[in-house]
Amino acid sequence: MENAIETIALVKRYPTNAPPRRNVSDIRGGFGGRGVGPTSFSGIIRVLKGTKGPFIEALRGIDLKIKEGEVFGLLGPNGAGKTTLIKILCTLVIHDEGEAYIYGLDVKKEPSKVLRNLQAVLPESRGFSWRLTGRQNLEFYSLLYGLRDREAKERIDYLLDFTGLKDRAYDGYQRYSTGMQRKLLLCRALLQDSHILLFDEPSAGLDPNSAAEFRSMLRRLSRDEKKTIFLSTHNLYEAQDICDRIAIIDRGIITACDTPDNIRNMTVDEKVFNVMFLDMVFNDDMTKMVNQLSEIIGVRGAMPEVDSDGVFHGLTIHADKDLDISTILDIIIKRGLKIRIINSKEPTLEDAFMIITNRQQWHPSENTNQTR
Ligand SMILES: Nc1ncnc2c1ncn2[C@@H]1O[C@H](COP(=O)(O)OP(=O)(O)OP(=O)(O)O)[C@@H](O)[C@H]1O
Ligand SMILES: [Mg+2]
Repeated sequence: MENAIETIALVKRYPTNAPPRRNVSDIRGGFGGRGVGPTSFSGIIRVLKGTKGPFIEALRGIDLKIKEGEVFGLLGPNGAGKTTLIKILCTLVIHDEGEAYIYGLDVKKEPSKVLRNLQAVLPESRGFSWRLTGRQNLEFYSLLYGLRDREAKERIDYLLDFTGLKDRAYDGYQRYSTGMQRKLLLCRALLQDSHILLFDEPSAGLDPNSAAEFRSMLRRLSRDEKKTIFLSTHNLYEAQDICDRIAIIDRGIITACDTPDNIRNMTVDEKVFNVMFLDMVFNDDMTKMVNQLSEIIGVRGAMPEVDSDGVFHGLTIHADKDLDISTILDIIIKRGLKIRIINSKEPTLEDAFMIITNRQQWHPSENTNQTR
């Protein structure tokens, strides 16, 4: 099946005023740091034309394939290149190298055909009149998009209902809250019933309830209307909650691309958990039990937690990621120990994100999930 979105070795460079690196021939003549300004008339022309000069590579070879109907999330730190990629796909920014296709249509060569297949909702998207009501604004856009009267009315009714704006449809746009304005943008994006929707940080600025509501709308669009949804987000929970697959982008390069669960698990190959007991005395029998646990295939280590009074509080166990822990619990229970709680310390998507973007190493003790 044809991919809904495909990019091949996509590169985007932006001119910048940052001080250029020395001895790089193609940045000579740009406005740079001290003493590196254009020294000749031709240097000034070059800078004005923007043909040569210092630049930053916002995207450094992006390869992506997104299937029809997929909800795909792009995660990355500030300045990673997320907005740039979305703007290239919706033809607002032109890439310097590589290729980008929407249903096989080249975004550079056939922008108008591309725009018939997708709609983008960007945070800076405006274009609504403050004097008109929400409904009138949508009527204006349906005229612009060439929808027939009846078709437009039905679609607007459906969308106002779908987004929960129906009761406020006759209020002036200036009375809309940020969340309502965002929903009206979604209505506008859906007027034409395009197959692909691009969102740049859809839940930024929304309160937790509105963000959850917005996510549920995106899920319904994917499930009921089979839309392909491509979104960028800083919200790791959002990515995990609604995306079939995610890509982590860092400094213009995709560093991981898989399902949220696989990304979460790819960074470590073991699980760590604590089994805490109702206080027991640590005696020879307990030492034997710890040795027995350590010998189970798949257990990498069992460390008892014993205080200075000899009270045995619990065990920290390191084991293979996929080990069935019932054998471990069986041995503990047969020794007559009473289990108070089990804490698992599996990595979260946030841990994985930090590791993949080289922000930190994963330490099991820093993240605890209570499972009981
Ligand atoms: N119009 C522009 N001119 C020059 N540089 C730009 C321009 N737009 C973006 N950049 C630079 O390109 C890089 C990628 O920016 P981009 O906005 O795509 O990142 P982002 O991942 O969306 O970041 P954020 O999470 O902060 O929104 C950044 O270094 C940014 O400064
Ligand atoms: Mg951005």
